[in-house]
Parts: sequence; C-alpha cells; structure tokens
Amino acid sequence: MAAVFEATVTAPVNIAVIKYWGKRDSTLILPTNSSLSVTLSQDHLRTRTTIRASPTFDRDRLWLNGAEEDVSASKRLVNAITTARRLRAEVEKQQTDAVPLSQWPVHVSSENNFPTAAGLASSASGYAALVSALAALFELPQSASELSRVARVGSGSACRSMFGGFVAWQAGVAADGSDSLAVQVADHTHWPELQALILVVSDRKKTVSSTAGMQTTVETSALFPERVRAVVPGRMEAMQKAIAERDFATFAALTMQDSNQFHAVCLDTYPPISYMNDTSRSIAALVHAFNAAVGRTAAAYTYDAGPNAVIYALESDMRDLVELFAYCFPRAEDTAPDAFYPNPLGLFES
Ligand code: PMV
Repeated sequence: MAAVFEATVTAPVNIAVIKYWGKRDSTLILPTNSSLSVTLSQDHLRTRTTIRASPTFDRDRLWLNGAEEDVSASKRLVNAITTARRLRAEVEKQQTDAVPLSQWPVHVSSENNFPTAAGLASSASGYAALVSALAALFELPQSASELSRVARVGSGSACRSMFGGFVAWQAGVAADGSDSLAVQVADHTHWPELQALILVVSDRKKTVSSTAGMQTTVETSALFPERVRAVVPGRMEAMQKAIAERDFATFAALTMQDSNQFHAVCLDTYPPISYMNDTSRSIAALVHAFNAAVGRTAAAYTYDAGPNAVIYALESDMRDLVELFAYCFPRAEDTAPDAFYPNPLGLFES
C-alpha cells in the first residue's frame, strides 16, 4: 500500500480592533500599518483542515466545505503551499532519511463550523488552518510567529489567527517581509470577562473585496497617509496598554474610533467604498446610546469590510446588550429576504 501522511488542525477567526487596511507590497502582502486583533473562541467559529500527502496523488487538490476548488486559480494558495514546501525541503536537506514530503502532491480538505454564507471573515481562519496543517504534516521547526509569515502570504489578516488571545501584526520595514509577522500580546486566559457578540446584518457577499478596496484606498485617499503616519502607531501602543491593564473603557473607545476611521478612509477612497449600511449605523448609534445611558463606555462596535457588527463588552454587561439588540432589531422574517435586520448569533468568549 502506498504511503499517505496526514495532519488535521483547527484555526480560529480573529476580529481586528486596530484595522489592517492597505498594502505596501501586494505579492508578499506587506501592510502599510501594524494592526491588532482579538481571536475568537473556536467553539463557535473555526476552520478545520486536513491535509494528506502521497506520492500516488497526481496533483494538489482542495475541497472547501466539501466542494472542490481549483488550486491553481488562487495565486495566494499556491504561494502559501509553495512557501511551506520550501521550508520542508530545508528539513529534508538536514535529515537525509526524512520522507520526501516536499515533493509529493497534497490533498487539502477544509471546512468551517459557521455558515460560509454568513459573511464572516473566513479567509483568516482558512489560511491559518492551512499553514498550521502543512506545518504539522511537514514537521516544520518554525515558531508560530515565523509560520505567521507563511499565513500572511495567503491572506494578510490570517497571520493573526496563528495565535489565540490578543495578537499584533507588526507591519515591519524589510522589503522581503521577514519582519512582517504576528506576535501574541496576551493569551486567551488574560481577560476572560471580555466577550464578543456578532450581529449578522447581511449575509450577502461584499461588493468590493478587501484586496481591491484597500488598493484603491492607497492610491486615492488623501486621509489615508495621515492615518498610517500619525494615528495608528499611537493607537497600537495605547491599545496594548489597555489590554495589559484590562482597561475596557479605553479598549472600547480605541476600537470604535479605529473602526470609524477605517470606514472614513473607505469613504474618502475614490470612487468611495461604503461597507456599513443603515442598520450598521443604527447599531453603532445604539451602542453610543447604551454607553450614555449607563454612564460609562460599556460596549464597543467594530465593522470590517462589510455591514456586520462585532460588539465587544464585558460579560457583566453582555446580557443587557443582547436583550437590547434583540428588542431593537428583531429577527428578519423568512418572508422578507431583503430585510436587513441583524440576527444575533450568540456570545463568543474571546
Ligand atoms: O486579510 P484581508 O485581505 O481579508 O483584509 C482584512 C481587512 C479587515 O478585515 C477590514 C481589517 C483587519 O485588520 O482584519
């Protein structure tokens, strides 16, 4: 019987509180600014990936949620697999009796435990799972930070999903991307009271992909260079301090301000990009009204390249917030497929 080597791993989704938007190198996926995210619990949102390698396979193949995709159609996927193979080849060079896995085709099967149609970021957990599975299969000696560079060439934000807890993606300055990697700021046990609530406003595919959107922003927004130069470095520092001190009010204010500025530079892009819709804006207004009513910054919203909201709050406030959102934004009727009501999916511990 022919040899088959196999590895299975899972990887989590992360939601940025200081946003990555803009590339200085679009092949290596090097960002214009550092970013910081919270990794969500894998109980609710995760990708599970199995990779098999065998000399009997005729080519690399990939199945996403059971449906086969064309591997060669995705340059980034090919890049990530090729980079991992190069690292395996180094292992084989050093250990002459190592199985020549770097030369065998692979079969990759990847599935999400959340509805792919829900419009939630799946490329981050997807590429992190792919790279972690390749690293396990190839028995790569690299650390998670070093491997995050491989995940990064698949999808920028994926480098942050190589860790749990609170994770910074250091933009780096090197032209070859060697210092553009993820580091863990604090692990998942650091702040157990912090929770995230995802409000699915729309499950439609976004109209402008993040790749196309950020490229146009870099080329046309006059506000964007100011964000990169004068705003993000200070926020990265302040955010890390807020996390270290478990200072929710500061964490929340920075999160909302950075989400707002990201969407402001999207609007300043020409032609403009609007990812948030009226419901997204109503949710943001409701969060501010809630904070005003309780007399402190008890909740924060953040939005990525789409209208869905992620709400951060401490466990002690989350029940009130869930009730408030459920009351103000009742579930969409099955008979109204175009209704843009959010549908609270549930609570996810960070
Ligand atoms: O990694 P990408 O290309 O999917 O870009 C993600 C960008 C945002 O989600 C909008 C922000 C972020 O830092 O995750």
